[in-house]
Amino acid sequence: MRTPLCEKLGCELPIFAFSHCRDVVVEVTKAGGFGVLGASTFSPEQLEAELRWIDQHVEGKPYGVDVIIPTAYDKEAETTTEDLDSLIPKEHREFMDNFLEKEGVPPLPDGERERIHREIIEGRGNMTPDGARRLLAVTLAHPQVKMVVSALGSPPPDVMAQLREHKVVIGAMCGKAEHAARHMKAGVDVIVAQGTEAGGHTGEIATMVLVPQVVQACGDGVAVLAAGGIAHGSQIAASLALGAQGVWCGTVWLGTRESELDAFEKEVLFATRTEDAVRRKARTGKTVRMIKSRLSEAWEQPGAPKYLPTPLQGILYNEAHARVVRAKRKDLYSFPAGQVVGMIKEETSVRDVMYRMQMEYLEAIERLNKLTPT
Ligand SMILES: Cc1cc2nc3c(=O)[nH]c(=O)nc-3n(C[C@H](O)[C@H](O)[C@H](O)COP(=O)(O)O)c2cc1C
Repeated sequence: MRTPLCEKLGCELPIFAFSHCRDVVVEVTKAGGFGVLGASTFSPEQLEAELRWIDQHVEGKPYGVDVIIPTAYDKEAETTTEDLDSLIPKEHREFMDNFLEKEGVPPLPDGERERIHREIIEGRGNMTPDGARRLLAVTLAHPQVKMVVSALGSPPPDVMAQLREHKVVIGAMCGKAEHAARHMKAGVDVIVAQGTEAGGHTGEIATMVLVPQVVQACGDGVAVLAAGGIAHGSQIAASLALGAQGVWCGTVWLGTRESELDAFEKEVLFATRTEDAVRRKARTGKTVRMIKSRLSEAWEQPGAPKYLPTPLQGILYNEAHARVVRAKRKDLYSFPAGQVVGMIKEETSVRDVMYRMQMEYLEAIERLNKLTPT
């Protein structure tokens, strides 16, 4: 399975793991894959603490960091990081509060509300280009970070120059062949072709269709990783057959004991069917594939306010989400998850997933080999 991108990055397996959870990043990397920490929900100070911890636990192996550099966002939010709260219209706040009150979801206790509110504002406030620059200033002081990936847009020229100076491999997420062309023009080394099946921000084109298009657009100069709908070794074999140099998985790690989800959240995850991982804008204002719930659907009803731009919708939604988790309300719980959620039925460990996917990959290759005429 070792591909040229593994050689370039210094990992054994072309299994890339996106996660907001440092334990997942470390365990995947220790198991021979390449862990990538999603940095966009951390403040620079929190990110520094996370990266220092990963450095200490990753046994000298290389890993990556992912930041959101959106092309469309609330411009005022970029300049007013002090009190982003004041940019959320009263109508939106009241809509969310009234809905939760009607549902009988209690507000967070005083001290907790302030702590969570501060954490969300400090973290989500970095989902703008300047916010990403602040996170990258922290990231680049950690030499074990060998790859930086940008989501929702190409890295701007000043960011590209800074990343080049630090000799990190530069990647970008893409949901259409046109995005790939833009990223290549910007000068990236790796493109993550993410199909609509994926959890998180996602487009409309399926992985099976997107990957060959992006591989063709990239030619030999830029490596492609396949993302979206990959949680089984046969899907890794298929991705490599499509011309990808590896796979980039997100949802599969949510069911591991290392993941950021607590026992209540995992119970909902294991019960979610593939068809209940839907694309909605309620969480960030952009289309996110996530677990369908009565909270996500409330924003789809006639009379609901229009979605706010990034990062404001995310600030509003995440506070409500914290209330839902505290109240353990399964019917209102929505978390980003891809269509493979329907394949995740019980808690495992990162090591188990890595081992299982390698075995399934070998079985898939053997199956194909049997088809070869003698
Ligand atoms: C909980 C969750 C959060 C995500 N957050 C981000 C993010 O902040 N940045 C990003 O580039 N991708 C994010 N993604 C998308 C992943 O990077 C990845 O492309 C996707 O999970 C792959 O598809 P899969 O979910 O089918 O494995 C997220 C995915 C999940 C499941």
